[in-house]
Amino acid sequence: MPLTKEENELLTRVENGAPMGEMIRQHYWLPAVPSIKLEADGAPVRIRLLGTNYIAFRTTDGTAAVLDEQCAHRKASLALGRNEHNGIRCIYHGWKFNARGELIEAPNHTGDQDAFCKHVRVNRYSVADRGGIVWVWLGKGETPPPFPDLPFMDLPSSQRSVTSAEVPTNWVQAVEASMDSSHVGVLHESTTQITAGGGNERLLMTKALAPKMEFEDQPYGYRYAALRQLPDDKVYARINNFVMPWYGIICPPDATSPTTVFFSVPIDDLTHRGWFVQYNTHRPLGMTVMSATPDVWNFPPLPPGEAKDNWGQNRDLMKRGHQTGFPQHLGTEDFAMFISQGQIYDRTTEQLCSADGAVIRVRQLLMRAAREHMEGKAPTLAHHPDLNYRTIRSVGGVMPAGTDWRTLADAPAVAPARAATS
Ligand code: FES
Ligand SMILES: [Fe+2]
Repeated sequence: MPLTKEENELLTRVENGAPMGEMIRQHYWLPAVPSIKLEADGAPVRIRLLGTNYIAFRTTDGTAAVLDEQCAHRKASLALGRNEHNGIRCIYHGWKFNARGELIEAPNHTGDQDAFCKHVRVNRYSVADRGGIVWVWLGKGETPPPFPDLPFMDLPSSQRSVTSAEVPTNWVQAVEASMDSSHVGVLHESTTQITAGGGNERLLMTKALAPKMEFEDQPYGYRYAALRQLPDDKVYARINNFVMPWYGIICPPDATSPTTVFFSVPIDDLTHRGWFVQYNTHRPLGMTVMSATPDVWNFPPLPPGEAKDNWGQNRDLMKRGHQTGFPQHLGTEDFAMFISQGQIYDRTTEQLCSADGAVIRVRQLLMRAAREHMEGKAPTLAHHPDLNYRTIRSVGGVMPAGTDWRTLADAPAVAPARAATS
């Protein structure tokens, strides 16, 4: 069923006090910047989340910090500041703020420094440096929500890669795509062949007829099993998870391949940052297209053109057999679809089909959380008593027909190689 105009607004808007933005701000941690982008005493990074600007930086002693972007004095950008001796010094008049946002020097003020400084600060936010990402909680109060302790958080960096790119569309289009399995075999047919060399499991996953889908609510969102009948009375099951408010955890094509997590975080109403984490709990990832990228803050690449040239689609390549004309990366194909849908696409006139159950559920869960927040309640799925991000597993495998797919999903993980470092 298409959404009403009001529902589409509720679902997508995050700025200027929009309920969805306020719900996320208060009840969820947001990925802000890759950990390696913040060097001790290095350049601060300007970030924008839910329509507001911040800076992230790492102090001399290695602490990551997130502050409001504007200097407390006369509002110059602290992104231009000098990061020195455990604080950011504004280059306009030299005021210096520590990682807690407290003013510690005001060199152009001639009165008592201590008396003046102790009343001045910029807002600072709770930060967690985990899983190769600096996360921030932007809510009010002293108690942050539960941290999204997803299975890649404590892996050594050799077993995960983290990249992201800024995409000029509303975030929900990308969240929907992370759970929309019916596009994979169509949109990504050529890119998966190029990158995986036409791997059999991948083709098995993508080329088989529409699978039977079974959904199950979970304390963090939902999971679903895509079940495909195989010869010899076997079933190929793929179990994926949607974790509120934006994580799509996609099962690996076989038992020891990497798992992929997609999340799409609203920068503002019309822009999002698409994050791609790949991790392997069994062994180092080795050299992949993702781990080899020189710029983890701008990968995968955006489509190479504008609307007037069909976003740089390569029709010559299509004549030679490429399915989409966007050979850059699987993510580039997704970005081209989101951008072509429009900045915030009109869900009041779409025609959904039987394959869209997972997309509909994503919308329902997000809108329910925003409505709960509007009613003054804590969203059920953000604070569920049974919430345990650690136990979420997306797995695939072949089972005898008639076997419950939950036996696959709930089996203990096979000897994961865990390390204590993050
Ligand atoms: S505006 Fe930052 S010190 Fe004056
Ligand atoms: Fe995709």
